[in-house]
Amino acid sequence: MEDGDARREQTDRDRYADGSSDATARIVDARPEPLDDEERRIEAALRPRKLADFPGQTRVRDQLALVLEAARRRGTPPDHVLLSGPPGLGKTTLAMIVASELEAPIRITSGPAIQHAGDLAAILSSLTEGEVLFLDEIHRMSRAAEEMLYLAMEDFRVDVIVGKGPGATAIPLELPVFTVVGATTRAGLLPAPLRDRFGFTGHLDFYATQDLERILTRNAVLLEVEAVPEGIAEIAGRSRGTPRIANRLLRRVRDWAQVHGRSVVDGDAAHAAL
Ligand SMILES: Nc1ncnc2c1ncn2[C@@H]1O[C@H](COP(=O)(O)OP(=O)(O)O)[C@@H](O)[C@H]1O
Ligand SMILES: [Mg+2]
Repeated sequence: MEDGDARREQTDRDRYADGSSDATARIVDARPEPLDDEERRIEAALRPRKLADFPGQTRVRDQLALVLEAARRRGTPPDHVLLSGPPGLGKTTLAMIVASELEAPIRITSGPAIQHAGDLAAILSSLTEGEVLFLDEIHRMSRAAEEMLYLAMEDFRVDVIVGKGPGATAIPLELPVFTVVGATTRAGLLPAPLRDRFGFTGHLDFYATQDLERILTRNAVLLEVEAVPEGIAEIAGRSRGTPRIANRLLRRVRDWAQVHGRSVVDGDAAHAAL
């Protein structure tokens, strides 16, 4: 997506134009890339595993709970789920939760990793019954793969092309029933036929401060940071409505408190650290 990258660079310039250092810009920029291994590990450790432990996004959460419960009662895999919204708000987390609530295995891949229809055919043909296929950045798949995907989502079938040129033949291959969970920061870039294959679409929005405070309170415990409500409130207020940023700021404040010999993160310490 060349113009997508161009737009992204443009945003970077805008972001840094306020004189902030790269380091600061990096912390408050919720885009996932480049996440280093350490951050990936911490994010994974902080991810809630169940819907009930996922604060905020009540609308999406309640609707998703209904979809999952109905599927559970029917004993069949749920409709395909599309999650859209800005980075760092919990799309990947919700995808994992869907699999975990269904007690189903999850296969994780992303649009940029699927450049040829053959890449997708290989993944699809190895899925097991009821498996969740998480397609991150689904808007960045190639056109050919998109087409294969929406047929597979509808009919649970792919045509595997064998041979090349005029002698090539398409061999239909039945797939087990599976559930796609797609995530995208730009639902608008998805072609309508693909978008229409999702029985459920949830749009994530920036979090209310109160929800960020709940997330931070839980994560402070997990990270063994002793934080009082004023400290949590200070961090939440600077997180731009985004849990990924909140988590980063929390770790930054923790580091600051450790270096300065403060055992408790209060409003003062959080303010000084940030
Ligand atoms: N509702 C939430 N509750 C708790 N943590 C959350 C929530 N939403 C996001 N997070 C945390 O924020 C980080 C980024 O979330 P992630 O799901 O990777 O976002 P996205 O995929 O939308 O970019 C993760 O560490 C995750 O645990
Ligand atoms: Mg993600």
